[in-house]
Amino acid sequence: MNAPRLAIVGATGAVGLEFLAVLAARGTPLRELRLYASPRSAGMRLPFRGEQLLVSPLTGDAFVGIDVALFSAGGATAREWAPRAVAAGAIVIDNSSAFRMAPDVPLIVPEVNAGALTAHRGLIANPNCSTILLALALWPLHQAAGLCRVIVSTYQAASGAGQQAMLQLREELAAALRGEPVPPPRALPQTLAFNVIPQVDVFQADGYTREEDKLLFELRKILSLPTLAVDATCVRVPVERCHSEAVAIELARPLAVEQARAILAAAPGLELIDEPANGRYPMPLPQAGRDAVAVGRLRQGRAFANGLTFWLAGDQLRKGAALNAVQILETM
Ligand code: A2P
Repeated sequence: MNAPRLAIVGATGAVGLEFLAVLAARGTPLRELRLYASPRSAGMRLPFRGEQLLVSPLTGDAFVGIDVALFSAGGATAREWAPRAVAAGAIVIDNSSAFRMAPDVPLIVPEVNAGALTAHRGLIANPNCSTILLALALWPLHQAAGLCRVIVSTYQAASGAGQQAMLQLREELAAALRGEPVPPPRALPQTLAFNVIPQVDVFQADGYTREEDKLLFELRKILSLPTLAVDATCVRVPVERCHSEAVAIELARPLAVEQARAILAAAPGLELIDEPANGRYPMPLPQAGRDAVAVGRLRQGRAFANGLTFWLAGDQLRKGAALNAVQILETM
């Protein structure tokens, strides 16, 4: 593909703004860029490469002449508009969960399964943010020693629930620090300031949340491990924009911790930060705005025979969303 004519749907959102930042920082060649959001944002302008680009509402001719459309406007908008964009001849890379598990929609983390891209029929799905970060770390370990089982607890930032959730956290913290009553939560199910919420997305009949299911089913699809056992507990923490995860895995074959360290240090997209004696380990605050996912605190696991336990932190808006989608675009 030559420099594409690109549309961004959801340009004013947390991930949409990050699309612009990532495209600008990487100098991705573009022939044209159109920005779309809800009618609420019509007429707004967003800066990009020295220009002020107009934000428009979606209309029937929005995708005429467009080669690729990056969507991050939620499942309902994707379900309504992504098929129309494909019908108009565009390739859609969608950040919502609407199409991820459809058999004919590739679910891509380029460092892991770029090969699956060729099977697309107009629609490509960007995985869930926690899934992308974890898949990056699991893939090289799986290649070295075979992955059997994953137990993961996530520590997910407000950014994962969009801009309104980030605003909610700031407003709650400001009110609490002024000694004023904290306003009722507007974007998350509970107050997040000085709290953690063991609920990300909605609960299902079996007691797991939909976010926890995304980790299970999306990891199986991305890693091509259809029976992989993944037990996830997803937790929202009062961090602005970087997710962390505590991970315990069982491997089919023994893998020494030193060997695992060397494998992760060499793996694309990862950065090993593992000097606990010097107080160096991955954390969300220093990882914000960085492309690499940081992995550390590697140790022999205690719960499984061939166990490995570790911790990771990665920018949810970058590798967890916008950067991964732009890498898919660049890979194509
Ligand atoms: P808007 O800012 O006009 O509401 P976030 O994930 O940060 O909440 O952002 C969601 C993004 O999706 C925003 O850019 C939002 O636009 C956009 N969006 C929401 N509903 C629609 C819609 N019906 N059509 C197009 N864009 C939408």
